[in-house]
Parts: sequence; C-alpha cells; structure tokens
Amino acid sequence: MRIPLIAGNWKMYKTPDEAKFFCERFKELYKDTDVQALICAPAVDIFAVSEAFKGTDIKVGAQNVYFEKEGAFTGEVSVDMLKASGCEFCIVGHSERRQYFGETDETVNKKAKALLEGGLRPIICVGEAEEIRVAGTQNDHVKNQLKGAFAGISSEDAKKCVIAYEPIWAIGTGRVATPEQAGDMCSFIRETLIGMYDEDTADEMIIQYGGSVKPENISDIMDMPEIDGALVGGASLDPDKFMNIIDF
Ligand code: 13P
Repeated sequence: MRIPLIAGNWKMYKTPDEAKFFCERFKELYKDTDVQALICAPAVDIFAVSEAFKGTDIKVGAQNVYFEKEGAFTGEVSVDMLKASGCEFCIVGHSERRQYFGETDETVNKKAKALLEGGLRPIICVGEAEEIRVAGTQNDHVKNQLKGAFAGISSEDAKKCVIAYEPIWAIGTGRVATPEQAGDMCSFIRETLIGMYDEDTADEMIIQYGGSVKPENISDIMDMPEIDGALVGGASLDPDKFMNIIDF
C-alpha cells in the first residue's frame, strides 16, 4: 500500500521568520488525512521548520545536498547536517538545479546514494522540456534520467526513493499537464522501474506529479491510478492553499 505523499517545494522563498509564521498557521489548519504532508524548505529554514513541526506527523525535507561526507566544500550542506536538522527527505535533480546549477544524472545518482546511505529518502526529479514533448521523445528522455539516477542502487534502496515527474513546461507556468498526460508518464515510469528492478519494488515506489499543482486541479491529478502524490511549488507557500491541496 503506497501512502500518498504531497510535498511543498518552497524553492528560494521564506526567511526563517516567514517559515515559522507559515508553520504556525499550517499547524492550526492541519488535520489528519490519508496523505503524508512534507515541506522541503531552504537550508537555513530547515531547523526552524523541524522545531515547529515537532510532535506532528508533518515531515521536513531539503531541496539539495552535497554527496561528500564532509570537507572543504564551501557553501555546501551534507547529508548528516540535513539529518541532524530534522530532515527525512531531500529533493535531488530538480529541473531548476539541472538548468542553473549544472546538476547532471551523474550528480543526481551520487546525491541519491549519499542520502540513502545516511538514511534520508531522495525525491528524484525527472521531466522533459517543451521541445522534447513536441518532438514526442519524452518517454526516452525520462527513461534515460531514471537509468542515470538509479545506477548501482539496490532494489531495497530504490523502494525508499520517491520519483517526481515534473514536465519543465508545466513548472511555474500555470500550464498544468492534463491528468492523462501526467498519468500516462507516471505509468510509463512505473513500467520502466519494473524493467529496471521488479514488480514488487516498482509497486512500493511513490511517484509524484509536479507542475502548477493547485487546490483546483489536485483531485483530478490524484485520480490517476499511478500518481501517488504531488510536488507543489508556488501553491505550497500559502498555508491555506497547501492545506487545501493536502485535504483534496
Ligand atoms: P509550481 O507548482 O510553482 O509550478 O512548481 C513546481 C515545482 O517545480 C515543484 O518542485
């Protein structure tokens, strides 16, 4: 049984005080649903968010990590640091990191392995740009991203990973993929995972959709049988909207 996971990706928004303000309001609104709620906060907010959510079942995650254990890597944050600050999840390979910060399938793979070794669950982002969708090669593109990200990861570890399908043309554009487009890709991802691992492994893995998810479209997206949750950008910044998404 896969428990749906709805995660907010705050991207580069909110100071620690603004994060605390969000958490206080979100805790007032929060009620138990069948969905696991998660906030992936900027690194400097993680500690404040973890403190605020102590005693609740709302989880905390990061948006990036470095794969080395420790050392002279100015500006980077390690798996152990995230764990000690209260993180259980970490996004890797978000398209914005691939586009602006040189993230590749190889670094995604190293980061995913480092997270798994340290006991954190990677949320591995995949998804195609508009030109790839227009050319009709989105399945091959996503399959290659999956193969790169999961190289050398055992099926036991793969089960702990979350995959977020985020078509780049739907991120922050208000142009949500149709539930069918999102559902078809998530089914294709599940089939690919069966090929890479086996049916039992693929069956346990959470596959999210991300890209312009809002209170108004979440329920159609969650109706798709192979979609197990969402990775929400803009609409996760507002506690009322994010709660409406979780309680779809
Ligand atoms: P939006 O929900 O703002 O489109 O962002 C999606 C996203 O990139 C989540 O990781």
